[in-house]
Amino acid sequence: MATTISEAEELVRQTGPKQMLIGGEWVESAEGATFETHDPATGDLLGVIAEGGAEDVNRAVRAARFALEEGPWSKMSASERGRLIHRVGDLIMENAEELATLETLDNGKPKAVALAADVPLSADLFWYMAGWATKLNGGTINPSVPYLPDAEFHSYTLREPVGVVGQIIPWNFPLLMAAWKLGPALATGCTVVLKPAEQTPLSALRLGELIQEAGIPDGVVNIVPGYGETAGAALAAHPDVDKVAFTGSTEIGKLIARTATGNLKRVSLELGGKSPNIIFSDADVDAAIEGAAQGIFFNQGEVCSAGSRLYVQSDQFDRVVEGISEAAKGIKVGHGLEEDTDMGPLVSAEQFERVTGYLNRGAEEGNRAVTGGKAIDGPGFFVEPTVLVDAKPSDTIVREEVFGPVIAAMPFDDIDDLARQANDSHYGLAAGIWTRDISKAHRLASRIKAGTVHVNTYHVFAAELPFGGYKQSGWGREMGEEVLKNYLETKSVIVGL
Ligand code: NAI
Ligand code: MG
Repeated sequence: MATTISEAEELVRQTGPKQMLIGGEWVESAEGATFETHDPATGDLLGVIAEGGAEDVNRAVRAARFALEEGPWSKMSASERGRLIHRVGDLIMENAEELATLETLDNGKPKAVALAADVPLSADLFWYMAGWATKLNGGTINPSVPYLPDAEFHSYTLREPVGVVGQIIPWNFPLLMAAWKLGPALATGCTVVLKPAEQTPLSALRLGELIQEAGIPDGVVNIVPGYGETAGAALAAHPDVDKVAFTGSTEIGKLIARTATGNLKRVSLELGGKSPNIIFSDADVDAAIEGAAQGIFFNQGEVCSAGSRLYVQSDQFDRVVEGISEAAKGIKVGHGLEEDTDMGPLVSAEQFERVTGYLNRGAEEGNRAVTGGKAIDGPGFFVEPTVLVDAKPSDTIVREEVFGPVIAAMPFDDIDDLARQANDSHYGLAAGIWTRDISKAHRLASRIKAGTVHVNTYHVFAAELPFGGYKQSGWGREMGEEVLKNYLETKSVIVGL
């Protein structure tokens, strides 16, 4: 067992899968290409990974097609399929320490967070989806056909897997995003080619080994690490992929939707957000302060549903801003493997440039940092948890997704004006409402155009709860029963009697 950070990094370099998983075999890329993945807290190399290209995607799609149509997966009972999916969840928990360490080293997040959230949520998603495998029933329907008044029919619907699915995931919750995607695809009997983010391939590759260990047949899950513009684009464009599921930026989501028109493959998208978190004077203000701080600072702010626009009723504005600033100052920033770390580095140089760019832009536009506002000296891509005030609705910080630990706080007085401001975004992923007035909470919840509305809490994720976006935050929902629609076709069968 590694005791220091450099020992843990060395262990990862020496062990664990670095190739790609195609048709049940761990293989190098067809071209022999590789790429590197690094610890964003130290800059140290963690591994040289096989880099997937178009030919690897072709091979993986062929393996997935074969597994879908010819392999044991296609003949397996739903009950057996469910048991194998359940076993994946068990194996995730049996390997929780290792998976959490991989996640921390590759992404930067505190290991305590990975152990408390990423890993058990991933296991739970597989356990939950395992149960759906046996419950994908159609219905019986009695049609009345105007032009056949005397005919009788027996009709029913069948729900069938959509087929070979391409899944492209981001780096902010590498293991959990793999679970969100793979769980419903497997429950519905689809086969998959998964492309992890180039910044964080390690935990998905380890999950590939656990999927094999669970007994999921060869070719059902293929994992092709690589870059978006190459491996990702090839997967989205592939004519023999029936559906693409994507989580990432709205910009690339639009590109994927366009690319998918080639063969009209099904598309589901989980994209960005600029979620409003709203605190009324009649709230438990201390709880609201804590919730709003966690709503933006959790996972370095690299959360699509982060509560990044804070609206506070005027008479509590100063108190809330001070409270969140105190919380921000109390956050211990450091390497995720250090036990007292609350917040790790941002995932990459690119993300660091993006977030510090937004901080500079905010300063130029007159947003004042009550606390934070700067990068922290390296090595590592660390930034200060930041609370900004003096932001106008037209400011960049209010309009664009930062994807970092940066909140913009704004006062409000009138609830109609507040509701309009909360909805004044082309995103619509999540929202928070803090009040003790239950009527106000429910009325406002129905007015806000967002896929998830939290009341007196924030960042609640569960396998049972649908998650996804209105407007440019996406198409379709992840998790819950709702996600299954993304992976099923419905067939009507009509029998003349
Ligand atoms: P991105 O959208 O470029 O990357 C996400 C995934 O898409 C990765 O696997 C990437 O390899 C892949 N990808 C990139 N270009 C592609 C293409 N042309 N075809 C197919 N796949 C492609 O996100 P990026 O650049 O890592 O982050 C940029 C911003 O996106 C962040 O600052 C944040 O605002 C947002 N984002 C949102 C996420 C969410 O959970 N909704 C997750 C990650 C990023
Ligand atoms: Mg990108």
